[in-house]
Amino acid sequence: MLKTKIAVLISGGGTNLQAIIDFAKSGGLKSGELALVVSDKAGAYGLTRAEKASIPTLVIAADKSLEITARKAKFEAELQSALEAAGIEMIVLAGFMRILSADFVSKWENRIINVHPSLIPSFCGEGFYGLKVHEAALAYGVKVTGATVHFVNEVPDGGSIIYQKAVEIKDGDTAETLQRRVMEEAEWKLLPAACEYVANLIMERKI
Ligand code: GAR
Repeated sequence: MLKTKIAVLISGGGTNLQAIIDFAKSGGLKSGELALVVSDKAGAYGLTRAEKASIPTLVIAADKSLEITARKAKFEAELQSALEAAGIEMIVLAGFMRILSADFVSKWENRIINVHPSLIPSFCGEGFYGLKVHEAALAYGVKVTGATVHFVNEVPDGGSIIYQKAVEIKDGDTAETLQRRVMEEAEWKLLPAACEYVANLIMERKI
């Protein structure tokens, strides 16, 4: 059977992308092939990580001359064409900081997964991304946080959960130290494993 062609969408440093690349290099991604990395930010370090791993890259920058709805529509039309041109069957959001429209997401039902740095349904949804998620967890005073990998539907961070892992919050944590621990103990393990799990379901035509 042919491996599932995967596109990874990023906006920044790409440590989660790196975790998937390392997992693929060590033979863990048996059912998937990393076929494209797309960034909405030129110069994102994740692009360099992809280039070093010989994965084709593409930057689609938002057209700031347009108002917000038209800007999003143009961005998603360009993304859709690039994904189709590359024969992509599955999308992984790995630190991708845009919310995709319901229209786009409906075209990719059960084909998009996302990693979020909290235990959904806590500290998630619109406005909760990156360090803000950890700041909110610390401000609330929760003693346990974690990460979640889920399917993407039209509700931000609302799709069904694939994997979740709890991470302890320690006295003296800052948003930065907590972000690092959540990445190391949860995100970098869960996301590669979920890539294989979903790529396998697609390859075997189970979803
Ligand atoms: C990760 O912690 C990821 O879970 C989070 O941004 C970081 C990206 O880091 N994503 C979100 O908050 C999405 N709502 P990375 O670029 O090093 O992978």
